[in-house]
Amino acid sequence: MEHDDADPLGARRRTLITGAGGQLGCALAGAFTGDDVVALGRDGWDVRFDAPALPWAPDLVLHAAAWTNVDGAEDDPQGAAAVNVGGTAHAAALGAPLVTYSTDYVFDATKGEPYLESDAPAPASAYGRTKLHAEAAAGERAWIVRTSWLFGETGHNFVRTMLRLGAERDEIAVVDDQRGCPTYVGHLADATRTLVDGGAAFGIWHVAADGDCTWADFAEAIFEEAALDCRVRRVTTAEFGAKAPRPALSILRSEKGAPRLPHWRDGLRACLARL
Ligand SMILES: NC(=O)c1ccc[n+]([C@@H]2O[C@H](COP(=O)([O-])OP(=O)(O)OC[C@H]3O[C@@H](n4cnc5c(N)ncnc54)[C@H](OP(=O)(O)O)[C@@H]3O)[C@@H](O)[C@H]2O)c1
Repeated sequence: MEHDDADPLGARRRTLITGAGGQLGCALAGAFTGDDVVALGRDGWDVRFDAPALPWAPDLVLHAAAWTNVDGAEDDPQGAAAVNVGGTAHAAALGAPLVTYSTDYVFDATKGEPYLESDAPAPASAYGRTKLHAEAAAGERAWIVRTSWLFGETGHNFVRTMLRLGAERDEIAVVDDQRGCPTYVGHLADATRTLVDGGAAFGIWHVAADGDCTWADFAEAIFEEAALDCRVRRVTTAEFGAKAPRPALSILRSEKGAPRLPHWRDGLRACLARL
């Protein structure tokens, strides 16, 4: 086994990150800089297949690769399952403790109040079903971190889309009958580190931003913080007409003492400051 000069005794934790090209994968690489990290994008490891040869057997796997196209999963549920379920099984097969990320979309929103870890999942979309099956595929040595409405300074996300559209248009229609917790990937990556290093038990953890809002509230906050002169026209999910059903109220809260994240508005400010 080879060791680098900065770690002559090989004492640092060897951490593998999948989906390194995605918004959470990027943030995880930043939060685990003290580790000996190998960060693999899709070109380094297509997780539908077994892992490639690695420089070492990992001590920790942070599995951020996923099919995240919610509407696209309705058209190709098996393609989504191959990535989300198969990919998680392949990550678990490495045999190291695993952090895998799941979603508020495993719930259907019929509860009418925030979802806790012990609530029974009932996904309404193909994407949600693949993520629920992925939770089972993660095995027994896994922290399953359910989170929601991720955004960050890289990749495809609502904040970057609103910044682009807000600079081009006077008005934009945004859904106002879905309520959730927009979560900054930088805060989620730090919380992942707290969870793992704090010795939290394996199992399901709900980790999402404090506070909650609708997509329309979130869009208005983005325009306000970025000083963009664009009006938000509040529309219903039915009017907007997305393909996959989405939960109307999918606030995630922890009954197990998961790391508490800052408010979503602080996450938005932290993200904009880095753009
Ligand atoms: N985004 C959200 O709002 C949200 C909410 C709750 C939970 N989550 C979960 O959080 C995790 C991270 O999501 P994210 O927002 O960071 O997603 P993301 O930005 O879409 O990143 C996912 C990454 O996975 C890669 N990927 C897709 N198929 C792959 C394959 N077959 N093999 C290897 N890599 C593949 C993607 O590469 P390409 O770019 O080349 O496709 C992308 O770089 C996922 O488990 C997701 O389900 C996300």
